[in-house]
Amino acid sequence: PLIRLADYQPPAWSVSDVDLEFDLAIERSEVRARLVLQAGPDPQAPLRFNGEGLELLEILLDGEPLPAGRYRHEHELLTIEGVRHGQVLETRVALAPAANTALEGLYLSGRRETGFLLTQCEAEGFRHITFFPDRPDVQARYTVTLRADRERFPVLLAGGNPAGHGELENGRHWARFVDPYPRPSYLFALVAGRLERISQDYRTADGRDVALHIWAEADVIDRCDYAMDALVRSMRWDEQVYGRNYDLDVFHVVATHDFNMGAMENKGLNIFNAKYLLADPDSSTDEEYLHVEAVVAHEYFHNWSGNRVTCRDWFQLSLKEGFTVFRDQSFSADMNSASLKRIQDVSTLRRAQFSEDAGPLSHPVRPAQYREINNFYTATVYEKGAELVRMLAGRVGPQAFRQGTDLYFERNDGRAATIEDFVGALGEASGIDLSPYLAWYGQAGTPRLQARGNYDPANGRYVLELAQSTAPTPDQPHKKALPIPVRLSLFNADGQAQRLRLADSEQDLGTETVLELTDQRQRFEFTGLSQPPIPSLLRGFSAPVVLDADYAPDQLAILLRHDPDGFNRWEAGQQLALMAYDRLYRGEDASAALQAWTEALADLFAQPDLDPGLLAELLSPPSETELAERQVDIDPEHIHHLRHQLNDAIAARIGLPPLLARYQALAAASTSALDASSQLRRRLKQVLLGLLSRLDAKVAIPLAQAQYATAPAMTDRLAALTVLLNTGAAEAGPALADYRRRYADNALAMDKWFAVQARVPGAAALARIEALAADPAFSLKNPNRVMSLLGIFARANASGFHRADGKGYAFVSHQLQVLDALNPQVAARLATALNGWRRLESGRREAAHAMLRELAARPQLSRNLAEIVNRILEG
Ligand code: ARG
Ligand code: ZN
Repeated sequence: PLIRLADYQPPAWSVSDVDLEFDLAIERSEVRARLVLQAGPDPQAPLRFNGEGLELLEILLDGEPLPAGRYRHEHELLTIEGVRHGQVLETRVALAPAANTALEGLYLSGRRETGFLLTQCEAEGFRHITFFPDRPDVQARYTVTLRADRERFPVLLAGGNPAGHGELENGRHWARFVDPYPRPSYLFALVAGRLERISQDYRTADGRDVALHIWAEADVIDRCDYAMDALVRSMRWDEQVYGRNYDLDVFHVVATHDFNMGAMENKGLNIFNAKYLLADPDSSTDEEYLHVEAVVAHEYFHNWSGNRVTCRDWFQLSLKEGFTVFRDQSFSADMNSASLKRIQDVSTLRRAQFSEDAGPLSHPVRPAQYREINNFYTATVYEKGAELVRMLAGRVGPQAFRQGTDLYFERNDGRAATIEDFVGALGEASGIDLSPYLAWYGQAGTPRLQARGNYDPANGRYVLELAQSTAPTPDQPHKKALPIPVRLSLFNADGQAQRLRLADSEQDLGTETVLELTDQRQRFEFTGLSQPPIPSLLRGFSAPVVLDADYAPDQLAILLRHDPDGFNRWEAGQQLALMAYDRLYRGEDASAALQAWTEALADLFAQPDLDPGLLAELLSPPSETELAERQVDIDPEHIHHLRHQLNDAIAARIGLPPLLARYQALAAASTSALDASSQLRRRLKQVLLGLLSRLDAKVAIPLAQAQYATAPAMTDRLAALTVLLNTGAAEAGPALADYRRRYADNALAMDKWFAVQARVPGAAALARIEALAADPAFSLKNPNRVMSLLGIFARANASGFHRADGKGYAFVSHQLQVLDALNPQVAARLATALNGWRRLESGRREAAHAMLRELAARPQLSRNLAEIVNRILEG
């Protein structure tokens, strides 16, 4: 059924207190639930609780067994008529964790003999554990008792504070947990099995002593230290920046190799995909360290933005996710280079969200409808949602933003809130009417911002004309104008920022200001400019839009050389690259743009004091996904070659000797040190090796081979392997074999072994992927492995996947069908790779269309996959 935001009704029956008892075992576990019932607006209404895949063993009301005629259990609902406020509903159900391959509800991680049990409830997993009104606006107090065999399950954990434990007969034991804070069912969690831990004491700013524990299986427990460090820094940061303190006596974090998403913020018991928790220099890349830091922070920050204040319904998902992503981005920016962080976040947004928004899966940050909520944990809800919070924060300024978030947390503590509650609190604290920004939450699609400037030397006036438009998206043929904050400076030809004054005002605005475009089209007139200005627009990416400005290549080159805003400096280079690309694509002369771009880059390359991390980003052209957004009837293989031409142009302009010299200097100083500057130099080294490999493979291959052999850390090893693979070097084979020997027992490192091969572009990709899918180390049951091979192939290797002969589609379609029967959530995510099919050239489009139609016609599709396939087909 289609669920609509407009149909929201408060729950007919909710629950104030939950008492859960688990008798845990791998094959069969039992759950007893005692629920204190709370009537909604109509006390005569029947009670309808969710329950899926539950074997009902017993049902009682106020201690009396319910006769069969008093209740119905059908269509994944338990219905009871005539219940009264305050009555206690008691059920006993049986579950089969080891058979649960969907990894939703209670399931087994690892093997039957050695693995452990855990739960994943967001969004609607709790209904796979017991009968319950499984919706976030039902908030209850939880008491949870776990019982299990002590030898098989020495560790028993649930969310909340510990409230006793002890021995039972027959080698069994028990442990109890009480959470004093009312919470929604999606935050329920338990973990049981053989786990090791590392621990640290923490005292919050408001004086609470907290025991922090990170749990993992014995073979990986020595890779948890960085996560603990990141956790402590996150806790301090949230105290200092948002005034938020942790609120229980213990905080548990658990790593698992079997997880559908990144991580989960269950109250007091965060559960992580091991990929985002474990880190060590030998097997993790620098990028992975950054991800661990960001995700640890993200889940921790949810304790307030998500748990203490939760969402009224799943349409409000971005209320917690967009805000929490904004919070983790700000944290990472404070911990590392802020401008690099911004560059990376915007790159991610463009790659993942803009492309999502440009196809049939486009949806608003607050969707209006869904069939399967798990399909809406998207780049739009997360990353675009974070951009909306960033715009609001920028609009009200840092002080009012903090006052606004204080007000939001205070007013909504213990409540299930809406996006209006959030925007309203910021508006009230700042005294600014933010209601126009709500339109951003309801309107899908990426706005295009057109900027046209006109300078009149006679009177020193500069008129900037801004206009916006948003293309229609499924369900939204007509788009409204949105408020778009445009942060800008005006530069002279020598790269000096000019002082700004608007024509209708006497006020000196300094060298940077924010214009707010609120209508379809507006003019802004600046006065007192002695030279024709070069506008630096949308500084720091002040709004999530596509900018269309009529720059001349030389103007962008000036910004690329001089703009002190690190983000916009990078952006100027990207714009130049796009300008060159567009011309190359149309078969036109691209030399003016290419020359302006590569000359500036070569000069920047020669500056010894330029930040190596920024330089690495400057030397990286836009991704193929971004390039593919710019045309219709695309041929991904052609785009792949054009992107090579951009890289080739950079490499040729800088020249072999300087590239080599810089690479060698960096290589000679290689270490495994994890400090920021070592990481940034590694990043630059990696980019330089890539450029060298384009310029002269004969030079680069031995360098890559040596780098692989002597790599002190994973970043270097993987970068070298990538170059060996991409150049088709014979040396790639032995390196892959060596890597495999070395990391055979390290699942996360083996994921990268699959991923680095899945990424190799071109016609040979499919055969390689097919062979890897048949490798005994591959498994459709493990989401990380699936995403490393099939996810990378279908979503990050366009030239390999979108083959003209359609065989890439046929292969993925087959895998999707097998996968869907095991794990619908992961199958649906993989299928989003076809989102852009309509924009392919006709041959590929027909092949993709046929594959999608065939898939849609299959009778057994999960709700998850069916929704994605049908939306992609019909949108
Ligand atoms: N709330 C989690 C986060 O921090 C995501 C969990 C989503 N899980 C799912 N199966 N939809 O982002
Ligand atoms: Zn989240």
